[in-house]
Amino acid sequence: MSGFPAGFLWGAATSAYQVEGSPLADGAGPSNWHVFAHTPGRTHEGQTGDEACDHYRRWRGDVDLMRTLGLGAYRFSISWSRVLPAGTGQVNGPGLDFYDRLVDALLEAGIEPCPTLYHWDLPHALDGRSGWLNPDSAQWFADYAQAVWRRLGDRVGRWATLNEPWVIVDAGYLHGTHAPGRASTHDAPRAAHNLLRAHGTAVRAYRALPAAQRAQGTGTIGIVVNIEPKDAATGREADLAAARRADASMNRYYLDALRLGRYPQELAEIFGADWPGYAADDPAAEFALIGEPIDFLGVNYYTRSVNRHDPEAKPVCASPVPQPGAEYTDLGWEVHPDSLRRVLCWIRERYGEIPLYITENGAAFPDPEPVPGAGPGGRARLADPRRVAYFRSHLAAVREALAQGVDVRGYFAWSLLDNYEWACGYAKRFGLVAVDFATQERTVKDSGWFYRDVIAGGGEIPES
Ligand code: BGC
Repeated sequence: MSGFPAGFLWGAATSAYQVEGSPLADGAGPSNWHVFAHTPGRTHEGQTGDEACDHYRRWRGDVDLMRTLGLGAYRFSISWSRVLPAGTGQVNGPGLDFYDRLVDALLEAGIEPCPTLYHWDLPHALDGRSGWLNPDSAQWFADYAQAVWRRLGDRVGRWATLNEPWVIVDAGYLHGTHAPGRASTHDAPRAAHNLLRAHGTAVRAYRALPAAQRAQGTGTIGIVVNIEPKDAATGREADLAAARRADASMNRYYLDALRLGRYPQELAEIFGADWPGYAADDPAAEFALIGEPIDFLGVNYYTRSVNRHDPEAKPVCASPVPQPGAEYTDLGWEVHPDSLRRVLCWIRERYGEIPLYITENGAAFPDPEPVPGAGPGGRARLADPRRVAYFRSHLAAVREALAQGVDVRGYFAWSLLDNYEWACGYAKRFGLVAVDFATQERTVKDSGWFYRDVIAGGGEIPES
């Protein structure tokens, strides 16, 4: 007995701007990430997603790789500006053709396509119309989603609306480190609210689709959030309050709105005079729309943080404290597998029963060069023992959550491929499969083979 139920979905994940390349091919419009990455000083060494993993052209080979790993599912995202180059209006058929072919190839390979509609790349034209600050963005998003469903809805049964609204808001609108590069306590809560309204508007639109556009006449829809337990560095009230604010701003912000129909009270303290209020009992706040029932929740988990009160770290006023003796990844994230179990149990306790998928989990570590001929079947070998250990310990944590009765239905490793790690460019490597960005050659890492063995064994975690 592996501890993972029959039918558990084993997958890997990527996102459009991080892997596709060819951002303007076949009539696509520029996305805000295309523009941001091309703005001097915004990304590591000015790196862009112009080529990325060239997945837009190499997708067939990448589906073969997924088959080699034995994946049951593939989570990818759809680029809005390929489908609607101006964000609204005219649909670009060739942009949809790309995803149409990909979906068919996945289905033929026995791999379930699990698309996310929005993984951070807003059509640039919509940023020109204030992006997520514009209340109309909710309808723009639902219209875009409908264009996608008209083409793919009959074959895809598992949709996610948004990926990680917290990152969109925190990096894109509060600190300006991601597109669209705004840094404003006024903008951030308004963007967050419109993102949640966009999610709800799309869920309603999905429920209203004709059966023919919903795989097997049903189809499911959910959202992906990133959750990170926020522990306090000491038992002092100031640190405990800092940890509560950090938790409110990242975790409860989105889940309370989605599942409880309100925002955490700490947000008023965090945003001060810029907090718009959004009272739970005010119909104008549209919590009924935001809370439109979903079929599943996607949870991205990487790390936890231990916080102290820090008046300099505005507006949350909490800073992470390094933990002596702990292991950290190349992004400076503590490796803390038990927090994945805690997250899964906490969601059930606070928000009730809902099917959960771990839609991302993985680690960036520097990798050595592949050694030719030293891998399985005479392939090159790339030894990445720390990543193997990360996956092993986190899968064990999922198994424990399952044993504690949490309804976890699937796990997606981040990422299938080394890829464009946003503002960090190509320096940080998360892949199960290494990509040589000069030649586009792919090499399955030891962690990829490890994961293949886990999948082949129905979740049995091989001993080292
Ligand atoms: C995102 C990915 C990203 C990963 C590692 C998640 O926040 O969804 O796009 O590459 O974390 O930073």
